[in-house]
Amino acid sequence: MHKKFEKIHTQKEYIELIDTICEHDRHYYDECKPVISDYEYDLLVKQAEAFEKEHPNLVLSYSPTQRVGEKPSKGFREGEHKVPMLSLANTYSKEEVQEYVERVHKLLEKEKVLFCVELKMDGTSISLRYEEGHFVRALTRGDGRVGDDVTANVKTIKSLPLKLFGKNIPAILEIRGEVFLTKKVFQQMNAQREEEGLELWANPRNAAAGSLKLLDPKEVAKRGLNIITYAIVEGGEGIKSQYEVNHHLHQWGLPAATARHLARCTTTEEIFHFADRIHKERDDLAFEIDGIVIKVDDLPSYQILGTTGKAPRFAVAYKFAPEQAVTKIEAISIQVGKTGVLTPVAELTPVHLAGSTIARATLHNEDEIKRKDIRVGDWVVVEKGGDVIPKVVEVDVKKRSPTAHVWKMPHRCPACETEVVRSEGEVAVRCPNPRCSARRYRRIAFFASKHAMDIEHLGDKVVEQLITKGLVSRISDLYTLDANVLAELEGFKEKSIHNLLSSIEKSKKCLLSRFLMGLQIKYVGEETGEALAEHASDLETLMRMKKEELLEIEGVGEKVATSIVEYFSDSNNLEEIHLLLKHGVAPKQPPKKKIEGHPFAHKTFVLTGTLAHYSRDEASLLIKERGGKTSSSISKQTDFLLLGTEPGSKYDKAKELGVAILSESEFEKML
Ligand code: IVH
Repeated sequence: MHKKFEKIHTQKEYIELIDTICEHDRHYYDECKPVISDYEYDLLVKQAEAFEKEHPNLVLSYSPTQRVGEKPSKGFREGEHKVPMLSLANTYSKEEVQEYVERVHKLLEKEKVLFCVELKMDGTSISLRYEEGHFVRALTRGDGRVGDDVTANVKTIKSLPLKLFGKNIPAILEIRGEVFLTKKVFQQMNAQREEEGLELWANPRNAAAGSLKLLDPKEVAKRGLNIITYAIVEGGEGIKSQYEVNHHLHQWGLPAATARHLARCTTTEEIFHFADRIHKERDDLAFEIDGIVIKVDDLPSYQILGTTGKAPRFAVAYKFAPEQAVTKIEAISIQVGKTGVLTPVAELTPVHLAGSTIARATLHNEDEIKRKDIRVGDWVVVEKGGDVIPKVVEVDVKKRSPTAHVWKMPHRCPACETEVVRSEGEVAVRCPNPRCSARRYRRIAFFASKHAMDIEHLGDKVVEQLITKGLVSRISDLYTLDANVLAELEGFKEKSIHNLLSSIEKSKKCLLSRFLMGLQIKYVGEETGEALAEHASDLETLMRMKKEELLEIEGVGEKVATSIVEYFSDSNNLEEIHLLLKHGVAPKQPPKKKIEGHPFAHKTFVLTGTLAHYSRDEASLLIKERGGKTSSSISKQTDFLLLGTEPGSKYDKAKELGVAILSESEFEKML
């Protein structure tokens, strides 16, 4: 393993290096168990880049540097599917699954048939081709016979190996799978679109399909697509069962179903047992599924079973109906976001849905309300997919009362009464007043939240009180609060006042990247914030940077650079930054330090409660410098729980899972 940057000189060393990187990709994406730190990984990539720069003719097609290519000048080429891409027959009924199973027994003239049952991924299907183990082509389904060649875009998906490894890799391998987005990435994507006033993606499937069809691979790379494979259509000679297909795909380094997401069943009872378990676990999965796929396990039987019209008889999809409930819209209220976007929200008669009571559902924007003809007083069907926020599916027009009335977007902001604006080409309506109290509330709440400065004890409710009582009106006011002022807040006693003041104090020593998130510069999210902080290393430098300089930073394009320059030339923003610094906020971005061979190396930490001597950021940094990682949730993969005072539920979960628990003093000793 290469620990520090060493120049490589020979082609042999280069090939070995690329193979090592591919192996680490596999550990990271496929097994979720990286064996080296991100820092070490970046070093390897840098080594490869340096060699490639000097020997452009030796660059390997599967080098990680080759993932993001150039944009095709004339849209996508088309490609033919040698084996057509069919769709699946699907059903929502257990009876029909039973009938299907019986039919298969009859057609195969067997008493016992084995089925391989998998998750039905809710994405967009893709056909992938590997030649001599190298990824060469990806085609969308298209009309099933001819699809679009999206090779350059699929190459950007980091969990897809560009080169396979392991034993018995067929010379030609054509496989099928699904390109999808995790729920988290999907939500982030829509949150950003909402802020930019763009139309939202209806679901992760549309978002994945839309992203795959972007013309510029650089844009696709930013979308965070994911992939899973589940079928071999060419090159699987000798593989006898679907269960083995999954096994082989996995062995060759391809993301494929394993363990709890795969079952071999013979009876419908077993199939439904699996289906019911998956249905229960559905909300906890990182990605959306819309059911399960039941496949005959024995591959040679596929010939006998044949196809019906567009779907093969070897498989059927058993889909989960989304959980729905009927309730009434009592009112439509407006939520003003931190950038001033007005979002209409349905206030519902509370109703029980998929394990929780819901009283609100987002209506996204005015166009959406018009399209669905939603009126105040209407009875509506609400649905909860994998998403946390429930949505209004449709109106029960038959039940509409004569008093139900059409809703209109107000002309003025409900919080500050400024006239709202709707820019051309945007669906969003905005309050343009930067001093709007609702916007202020959102901005301050965001500043304090986990996404930015992570100030403990300063949750949304506290911010709301601070604003309505007139104690705070801008972010910098937070740093002027004292015990006397806080005593005015409801429920605030000596202890809670002390806690809040000490976490505000602690937040003064913060990372520049977090501070930048806190400033809420348009288009500057977590990743960009980190890239900026790392590049500039201090705020003053960043504030002085010209657009051309900003454009040199990875991940900063025209839109982002313009927004940053505009932000730092606005006198209100400059005044606010000046006040924050004056009150002692001191954002710093320490250079990446690396301590080798520390017991924290490759260990995953979760933090809970309040530490006496370190802010969360400081503790995380110390861990990372020593080669460890931090995560926000406890799982079997967690190595240590770092325990502060007043821990949350993570403490119980750690005990339950037998995760080692470190007190602050033990942590310090180990440091
Ligand atoms: S096998 C003949 N397995 O569902 C088609 N498909 O509704 C064989 N899908 O086009 C496909 N998860 O895009 C298969 N585990 C899985 C799947 C899966 C999702 C998609 C696929 C297919 C569609 C059919």
